[in-house]
Amino acid sequence: MLAGSEHEKGVLYESKMMSTRQDDLSTKGVDSELSGFLNACPAYATTQHVDNLRANEYSRLDDDRHIYLDYTGGGLYADSQLRQHMALLAGNVFGNPHSSNPTSLAMTHLLERARAYVFEFFNASPDEYVVIFTPNASGALKLVGESYPFGAGDQYLLTFDNHNSVNGIREFARARGAETTYVPVVLPDMRVDGAQLADYLERGRLRGQNLFAYPAQSNFSGVQHPLEWISQAQAGGWDVLLDAAAFVPTNRLDLSRWKPNYVPVSFYKMFGYPTGVGCLLARRDSLAKLRRPWFAGGTITVASVQGDKYYLAEGEAAFEDGTLNYLTIPAVEIGLRHIAAIGTEAIHERVRCLGGWLLDNLVALHHGNGEPLVRVYGPLDTYRRGGTLTMNFYDPMDRFFDHRLIEAEANRANISLRTGCFCNPGGGEIVFGLSQTELVACFTQPQQRLTLDDFRLCIDGKSSGAVRVSIGLVSNFADVYHFLQFARGFVDVSAG
Ligand SMILES: Cc1ncc(COP(=O)(O)O)c(C=O)c1O
Repeated sequence: MLAGSEHEKGVLYESKMMSTRQDDLSTKGVDSELSGFLNACPAYATTQHVDNLRANEYSRLDDDRHIYLDYTGGGLYADSQLRQHMALLAGNVFGNPHSSNPTSLAMTHLLERARAYVFEFFNASPDEYVVIFTPNASGALKLVGESYPFGAGDQYLLTFDNHNSVNGIREFARARGAETTYVPVVLPDMRVDGAQLADYLERGRLRGQNLFAYPAQSNFSGVQHPLEWISQAQAGGWDVLLDAAAFVPTNRLDLSRWKPNYVPVSFYKMFGYPTGVGCLLARRDSLAKLRRPWFAGGTITVASVQGDKYYLAEGEAAFEDGTLNYLTIPAVEIGLRHIAAIGTEAIHERVRCLGGWLLDNLVALHHGNGEPLVRVYGPLDTYRRGGTLTMNFYDPMDRFFDHRLIEAEANRANISLRTGCFCNPGGGEIVFGLSQTELVACFTQPQQRLTLDDFRLCIDGKSSGAVRVSIGLVSNFADVYHFLQFARGFVDVSAG
């Protein structure tokens, strides 16, 4: 039924939302749909240990009735991770690792243990790869961008579908006269056309520097772009920067099988705690070609004021500027061991089951007049896609609900989701149908800075954002069920 006047619309909307919130408080509805879900995805039943873990180690989620659906934004940590880390700090005296006194050596030992476990976790050989600790994935990307030996005529190739921290490398490329080229993603699945990519990869500069960057999993659409591109691009003379930030929280990245040149990761996306630490996994031969634009404490063997010279240290040391976040880094090993104990395959299966169920049920939602309620951007099945679902809501007249309104309603239902374009403007431009002409016009306006509101005005009524839910480590059926119930609250509601 369609709402008529503004007043009626408000009342209908409000009452539907109220019923959603009441339903949130009961488990009756969850139980009634759970058996259908379990029949559809029997693999889920093999991950019971994650339910036990959630009850024991993440009870604050359910105690406070949180419906957490922002795992692509940040993962969640287990109580035991905190306990182990605090016990380590409380039971020892640690000094700055850049020294050789006992407390410093104790710290160095733990840092190197953590580094060794990062190798083990990603099945990377220390003979082949180097692990460089960074503040986050963006820090790892910046290390590559600022040091890659781009020169005039060199190439930076990247997919439309990329996080801004990968897009930003084009500024380093531009400053050194290299050319940046974007490979489009194609609707409706938001994948890259393989033949078109092959064509771009053939245009690398002979004997020049060619860098190709793409995400193993999109933080916008959940698409998992093929890892097979790595060797394909390398065979054509490209170095490959594989952004694994959104992929590794729920998928195994085996670096004995796949050999990207550079891999940035943020650890909080995998296991919630600690924040402030990521890493760059770089192949030793690829690291050797990077040219650091400066030197800093910890990155040199010797530097002289009067001699006006410095010598960079070898390997990871040349890239870890200043003092590492040393007290925190041992918690990375604790977090990785936590994931390993659960099993990346179990996490992957669970996310696949929950994501598949939610996808199927969201696209099945229709208004009374037959119009679909939700448009999901990206693949509508679980083949080579992760548990990141991005969508917009439409009313029976096919008008979109502003994503900010959906977020405000979700907040009221204690659902943590994310809206906007998730630092992935290329993904947004494709799905919102924003053309280059329109965008160039917006970006050449006279004002100094374009605010988000100026931008919305400029694109004239087109949606500038979407709603993203993402499933992860300890998501359960109740989480996705409640989101579906929330979405059902918009059936037959007018957005006008
Ligand atoms: C695919 C992808 N790459 C890079 C990043 C940047 O990560 P960080 O903000 O931790 O540096 C993100 C963050 O959401 C991401 O999803």
